[in-house]
Amino acid sequence: DQSPVSVQELAKEPLIAVPQSFVRVDDDHLQPPNGLFDKTTTIPTFDMNKLVNIEEATDLDDELERLHITCQEWGIFQLMNHGISSELLEKLKHEIEECFNLPLEEKMKYKVRPGEVEGYGTAVKTHGQKLDWGDRFYMIINPILRRKPHLFPQLPPSLRTILECYFLELNKLAMTLVGLLARALKIDKKEIKELVEDGMQSVRMTYYPPCPQPDRVIGLTPHSDATAITILHQLNGVDGLQIKKDGVWIPVNFVQDAFVVNVGDILEIMSNGVYKSVEHRVMVNSDKERISLAMFFNLKFEAEIGPLASLINPQNPPLFKRIPMEKYVKDFFSRRKLDGKTYLEQMMIKNE
Ligand code: SIN
Ligand code: FE2
Repeated sequence: DQSPVSVQELAKEPLIAVPQSFVRVDDDHLQPPNGLFDKTTTIPTFDMNKLVNIEEATDLDDELERLHITCQEWGIFQLMNHGISSELLEKLKHEIEECFNLPLEEKMKYKVRPGEVEGYGTAVKTHGQKLDWGDRFYMIINPILRRKPHLFPQLPPSLRTILECYFLELNKLAMTLVGLLARALKIDKKEIKELVEDGMQSVRMTYYPPCPQPDRVIGLTPHSDATAITILHQLNGVDGLQIKKDGVWIPVNFVQDAFVVNVGDILEIMSNGVYKSVEHRVMVNSDKERISLAMFFNLKFEAEIGPLASLINPQNPPLFKRIPMEKYVKDFFSRRKLDGKTYLEQMMIKNE
């Protein structure tokens, strides 16, 4: 059957069963978080206040070490006291809800154009792939010159204003985090910062409607992020995110006032495999909509992605190839076929 432009519209109809194009047959994909993991397992939590104090205090080395181990073993954590005011977050939630609730004709102005990735809509899947139960709105926001004229500049002004505030705040937060990660990796901050500062940044807002058959669909297909770091805000506090750890899907429970920060493929490459880009997916439910906003922090377009020079020595040879950021983005946006391999696998140097 035809793929709908908007799952949100589809979900408004009285559906008994979801269309076949959404039904997952691969049992592994639908394998629920099961008894294999300890129900008390939760992803690590950090307090930003404590982390920034590391700069002054020496007795907080343990916290830095915990951050290091978390990025190695989990590749994801909850971040409390991130410093973004609840007033701003409340406005943001309101504006994004309003945006998804615009009439479909309005949203169609931002529709993903053929051969493109940015814009509004359900991800266009290649032959045979199943559709995700969610509508997304993805766009590059930095450098400003890369903003598509028909996307961000055309958004409702009140949404644009609040997003601009949010981007500024998140950029500051991301740069602080990157500095902390450099310290955790015991390298000079400058080495990472000059690559990430004023780098390519993009945002994805996603609306997952309630689903009459949540066990048969996936909100967002399992993947790892093609970023250095991602900061996720679960706008309306509805659960659904899961990570795969040691072969088992684990729910990332919503924590009030916390962001979820995760390591992406680029940071895994830069850290020469020390930090892990976590595989994750989103599941949906039958009664609550879920709205999220993910901000992706990448390198400058002029930068080269590759293991950081100071982490390479005879004992630690590079595990990944080098590639210009510009090419990486192009490959990513052209949805190049990867012979069943993830991009990260493709970047690995084989040691025969
Ligand atoms: C979400 O939690 O809705 C998005 C997660 C992701 O960006 O992969
Ligand atoms: Fe993701």
